[in-house]
Amino acid sequence: MKKDFLSVSDFTSSEVADVVRQAESLRRSMVRPLEGKIVALLFEKPSLRTRVSFEIGIRQLGGDCMYLSKEDVNLGVREPVEDVARVLDRWVDGIVARVNEHESLVTMASHMNVPVINALSDLEHPCQAMADLQTIAQHKGAFAGLRVAYIGDGNNVAASLAVGCASVGADFVIANPPAYGIPDSVWGTAMQRAEASGSSVTRVEMPEDAAQGADVVYTDTWVSMGQETERVERVKAFANYQVSPALMEYAKPDCIFMHDMPAYAGAEISEGMIDDPRSVVFDQAENRLHAQNAVMVALFK
Ligand code: NVA
Repeated sequence: MKKDFLSVSDFTSSEVADVVRQAESLRRSMVRPLEGKIVALLFEKPSLRTRVSFEIGIRQLGGDCMYLSKEDVNLGVREPVEDVARVLDRWVDGIVARVNEHESLVTMASHMNVPVINALSDLEHPCQAMADLQTIAQHKGAFAGLRVAYIGDGNNVAASLAVGCASVGADFVIANPPAYGIPDSVWGTAMQRAEASGSSVTRVEMPEDAAQGADVVYTDTWVSMGQETERVERVKAFANYQVSPALMEYAKPDCIFMHDMPAYAGAEISEGMIDDPRSVVFDQAENRLHAQNAVMVALFK
């Protein structure tokens, strides 16, 4: 049976923990499960970290890849998603796709006999979450008892992180304006996993309440790709949700600061926050490579 990675919840909680451990060991030693295999990278949205880290990772694992842009494929416009999927399925050994609508991934996965990996959708960014967990483990050791505070939009990054933290037993708290929470479907999964792992997932409104006593403070852009027409209203709604040294004062003294990037200084972070001594954002970016390699090892074994 082929396996896909469209959501963090496609891995059981113990598989999530295994991938995070494997990611750390792949930093030092390499395996080659993709020897002789070709993976297509199909991207409907721009990418720096995801595209480059997948291209490098696929080659490190012994495979090769090709990049297909929005213009090359025009998913669902030039031809239906299911036809694109069935054609690619005849040639490639796997697909890494960044899509506008999560549903496109679900359609692809159900029409392909090879693994489909979510390289970001409107609903989840599971590869980012695996790298985030690896980074948290790298800086904090064990997950149990850690408080991960996410400040801002309950977007794809927040959704995957919530399920990821709940899977490995870290407490997750999000502060968001009422209309910008994590979708109920994903939140429900996070709650179930938190209950099973003995951790908690909580929503609050005020950023200070989330940051209070936190081991990790995390934020992401207020305007995700595809939401550009909502920019004005979003900037207004999130005006009090900026992560700054003043907000970090509420957290533990050894708290780390995380951001998946691209980061917008003057919006979700204050000027200089990327270079704050508590910032681990470049470790996070590096870990995309190792974490995705671990995901591919799990799917292509
Ligand atoms: N939430 C952001 C993540 C970018 C990597 C977006 O979807 O644009």
